[in-house]
Amino acid sequence: MNDPSSLRQKLAWSGFMHGGPVLARIYRGFEPRWRRRLERHQVTSYDDREHGFRGGDLHELTTRVYEKGLRHIWKAEIQAPFLGFHDASALEKAGVGEETQRHETRSLLNTVSASDVRREFDQAFSPEQRQAILDITSLIAHGEAYALYTSATLLPFVSGTGSKMGMAMQVMEEAKHFLVLREMTRLLGGSPPLRDSAYILFERIARAEPYARLFGMNVILESWATSLFAQFAEVPGLRHVFAEFHLDESRHVGFPKNYYESGRIPPEVTHGLRPRMRRERLLFPAIGLIWDYKPAFDTLGIDVFAFFGRFLAKASRLAENSGLPIVAPREKVMALTNLLFNSCVRAFEPERFNGYQDYTQLHDGSIRSDILEIEKEVFGEDVFSARPAQEAA
Ligand SMILES: [Fe+2]
Ligand SMILES: [Fe+2]
Repeated sequence: MNDPSSLRQKLAWSGFMHGGPVLARIYRGFEPRWRRRLERHQVTSYDDREHGFRGGDLHELTTRVYEKGLRHIWKAEIQAPFLGFHDASALEKAGVGEETQRHETRSLLNTVSASDVRREFDQAFSPEQRQAILDITSLIAHGEAYALYTSATLLPFVSGTGSKMGMAMQVMEEAKHFLVLREMTRLLGGSPPLRDSAYILFERIARAEPYARLFGMNVILESWATSLFAQFAEVPGLRHVFAEFHLDESRHVGFPKNYYESGRIPPEVTHGLRPRMRRERLLFPAIGLIWDYKPAFDTLGIDVFAFFGRFLAKASRLAENSGLPIVAPREKVMALTNLLFNSCVRAFEPERFNGYQDYTQLHDGSIRSDILEIEKEVFGEDVFSARPAQEAA
């Protein structure tokens, strides 16, 4: 007790044990009011209870126009194969002989029948596990609607014809993700509405000023999407689509890096204190999100802290590489994340605490090896040090 550092540690620990839950309760009391305020001034017109856009052109796009528009995209590989283009998917090429009008949205779902997918999902999981999967995937099923809205609003903002084209392709892919995942989750039992924390995070990104919106969309949401698609790439019922979509999201992850390297992000946006603070503030609701969705992760036996730790490791590296860092340096974010997660496990789930664990590292076998290779390429090899779980504990 006479050792001052040990006294300081004990005081800090006691502060965390007593102050943490009080602060969390205060924040939680405030959260529903925050959501209602954002709903009153909503910019997206997205209704997560209905899983669709209310009125306007996005309603039109996601109910009628998208499929018609996509059907008329002329594929050079199919119509003029002698030119040597490779712009058609294997499914499009396979379907061209018998059904030239077949389009990608339906093709993805037609690889197996709807009843096959539902059956494999029902057989693989208990009702509680199925609900947990739908709880977690609702984040991406609704998140894609926000990705569609947000990337579309970034299109007039990004400069350079090549960048506009890259963003335009992203908009098309987000529309596909939204429509396909909406159908998929309906087929598997339906997506619950977003929790307040997730709603606040998505809405605030959608309404942020353009550079903060680019950060929220292409750094945070895209890193988040790759994490979810990678985690569930092999899950029965989801596997037919998730690994494919991981490839799309990995390309979107590359956008801000290329945009920055082409000199299109002003130095004051990269280094200025206010822009960095603005980006950091966008992330606060994500803390509540971890606790909101933790029970679903627990039901599936997935360590929620390892999942979020890895996501933060990827997103923070991408933020640095894209000239869009937050105030806290990456090493500090990693250290604080580990401190918070280890303290939470030690305090609230002591039976699971086996000593300090680095939650920001990927463990062998956490995700499929081919997906891991893609992630190494887009986020950087050093973000992942594939070590067996027991060594990291
Ligand atoms: Fe997406
Ligand atoms: Fe995306």
